[in-house]
Amino acid sequence: MANEQIEAWLHEMRSFEPSATFAEKANVSASEYGTASQDPEAWWQQQSKRLTWTTAPTKGLEWNPPFATWFADGMLNASFNCVDRHVEAGKGSKVAIHWVGDGEGEERVITYSELQELVSKCANALTDLGVSSGDRVAVYMPMIPEAVIAMLAIVRLGAMHSVVFAGFSADALASRIQDSDCHFIVTADGQFRRGVPVPLKPAVDEAVNVCPNIEAVLVVERTGTDVAWNDDIDHWWHETVDLSSPIHNCEGFPAEHNMFLMYTSGTTGKPKGILHSTAGYLVGATTTYANVFDIKPESDICWTAADIGWITGHTYIVYGPLLNGVTQVMYEGLPDSGGRDRWWKIVERLKVSILYTAPTTIRTLMKWGTEHLQPYDLSSLRVLGSVGEPINPEAWMWYREFVGGNNCPIVDTWWQTETGSIMISPLPGVTSTKPGAAMRALPGINVDVVDEAGKSVPNGHGGLLVITKPWPSMTRGIWGDPERFEETYWSKFPGIYFAGDGAKRDEDGDIWLLGRVDDVMNVSGHRLSTTEIEHAIVGFPAVAEAAVVGASDETTGQAVVAFVTLKLSEDEHENDHAVIIEAIRQHVSKAISPIAKPRQIILTPELPKTRSGKIMRRLLKDVAEQRTLGDVTTLTDPTVVAMISGLMGQHSTED
Ligand code: PRX
Repeated sequence: MANEQIEAWLHEMRSFEPSATFAEKANVSASEYGTASQDPEAWWQQQSKRLTWTTAPTKGLEWNPPFATWFADGMLNASFNCVDRHVEAGKGSKVAIHWVGDGEGEERVITYSELQELVSKCANALTDLGVSSGDRVAVYMPMIPEAVIAMLAIVRLGAMHSVVFAGFSADALASRIQDSDCHFIVTADGQFRRGVPVPLKPAVDEAVNVCPNIEAVLVVERTGTDVAWNDDIDHWWHETVDLSSPIHNCEGFPAEHNMFLMYTSGTTGKPKGILHSTAGYLVGATTTYANVFDIKPESDICWTAADIGWITGHTYIVYGPLLNGVTQVMYEGLPDSGGRDRWWKIVERLKVSILYTAPTTIRTLMKWGTEHLQPYDLSSLRVLGSVGEPINPEAWMWYREFVGGNNCPIVDTWWQTETGSIMISPLPGVTSTKPGAAMRALPGINVDVVDEAGKSVPNGHGGLLVITKPWPSMTRGIWGDPERFEETYWSKFPGIYFAGDGAKRDEDGDIWLLGRVDDVMNVSGHRLSTTEIEHAIVGFPAVAEAAVVGASDETTGQAVVAFVTLKLSEDEHENDHAVIIEAIRQHVSKAISPIAKPRQIILTPELPKTRSGKIMRRLLKDVAEQRTLGDVTTLTDPTVVAMISGLMGQHSTED
């Protein structure tokens, strides 16, 4: 975010009190903050009763910084809690998932009883393929019900899912499979994007070529396009899962049993496998979902418009909603699949009451104009959520006015893959809301904004966001790398979780998130590492050096801008600049994902460096954001930045 933008943002003074009618029926009362803060461990133990246990826990927290266990002597099954217990409670005929396909008119309605059968069949099929407790299973799937079914079946067996976003490349999939040594993959032949079938299976085949430990690949037929087939390891879903027994009796696993991995970008080149264990994660997911969205399972229709390939999809499409036994909408398509009014058609027709999405989508919808939503009755909406990046007041106000009819509390929820569930957010009906502020830590969560020395900053000041006490859904580590875990999150302030985000506490003590303070970028709510993209670019044969920065972008929050020097002299390449730039962009797309493709690549004969040879990314960010340049006196050659500024307009491409 540019400094001027942050400044404008922080002068935002509007505040909205909860309406009396909403407050009257709110799930949580203001006193909960006090109760939870007196004894957070006891409060979380109370919340753990939301789950059904095969052995109820007597223990709460055991804390050996930075390693925590929660409810450690309890036993339970995650899948049973999401599905079977609702059927046993007589809610089998309730709709669990109302799936809406990319193409209009394509829908599937799955009740909790049907979900129980489908998950059981899948668990039986996976068992036949050799999956058992402790195994890692990669899931590389479109947004179809089978993705949820597979995840629930995997954890039902005590195995771990490692969902890889289906937009990631074969290389990215392979490196994730290798890091956690997955022996199984669940995927589909392809996925639909605005009606166009996009293949997935070829990327899996490519990954399998370099992952010799893969024993079986389970493939859903989604697009019906031809795929290459390896009889030794490939299995069609409809020839295995569909033919399996619909009965699967599941067992309880220890509370701390590993549940899943979710790979995310850090400050170094290598993505890290964030590990979550069972009970603590589930307690966090179910409690925060119920409280932050004020869920009324009998009447709400919930829609988390995210992808299961990210943590938001895990916690607030799969686990939070199903643990709470709600009916939810799961949408396969893009916001404009079938037209720019597609979302609003869905909200009106299915009477969606809880909508949760990312600021980048809100800004896109806003750009398309209100004429796309005005024809629709959106009065079923009750709570609107935002996640993934700071939301600018303008987008927040648009969301409130045009989507929520000035009638819905907006919950700006701050959290991370590592935190497992929401940490900071208003509570609808309880907390006032301010456009652009995440407000305050949830009951049971303790956060602070501190200076470099770890000292709490007074109201009206900015600093670093930290979480001062352990919480149930906190990550249990980075897969295979305990040192990196300690170093990344726990070494800056010993015993305290360092989130990597800047934050400000305003005069009322409310929290505003200001973006990352490290080399992590946030592009359309997707977390990307500048280093990882630099490594990918340097892997392109003609490239000598690369520096990547996240420049502010009106729609995507941040955008990837790369400054690149070539190995051969620029003269030789003069005529090929456009070709090289495009080739580098495609190379990044293949190495990581199309999301990571630089918006702009500036070919330059030199990069600005300090006398000790460090690339001055701060200055490049100034250039990319077309701001007045900061201090250039430490550079070996101060004229380099001016030259790059000049090049910025010439040798660049944009989508
Ligand atoms: O910088 C913060 C930003 O997203 C980062 C976490 O990314 P990820 O692990 O991919 O999880 C995203 C979905 C939970 C954070 O370090 N972030 C997330 N939510 C917000 C946010 N920044 C500002 N406001 C938010 N509400």
